[in-house]
Amino acid sequence: MTYVVSDNCIKCKYMDCVEVCPVDCFYEGENMLVIHPDECIDCGVCEPECPAEAIKPDTEPGLEQWLQLNAEYAKSWPNITAKKDPPADAKDFDGVADKYQKYFSPNPGEGD
Ligand code: SF4
Ligand code: F3S
Repeated sequence: MTYVVSDNCIKCKYMDCVEVCPVDCFYEGENMLVIHPDECIDCGVCEPECPAEAIKPDTEPGLEQWLQLNAEYAKSWPNITAKKDPPADAKDFDGVADKYQKYFSPNPGEGD
């Protein structure tokens, strides 16, 4: 199994998660992060750290799309290991429905 980043990370991108991951397996897109499923050691430490509750174990139902998206973009987006400033309007997007359809960007972030 692995943990995955899901919909509510988009445009919230708080990045508290990267500070606690012992194996630095987060990768940065323009407006969300993903977890590399082959690098994650399933420690679960990041899950409670996310203010947007966007990180979930892939054993939860309905996360197939997110597992696929994390695996795909972890290959091309840059690694991120340190928290940066989240978007100024992050709070306005917390809990907004269907963020993937409305806001997902395949563009990479800047990484560390
Ligand atoms: Fe990193 Fe652990 Fe979270 Fe996996 S579950 S992404 S290893 S902190
Ligand atoms: Fe995203 Fe939560 Fe990390 S909003 S960047 S998964 S702390």
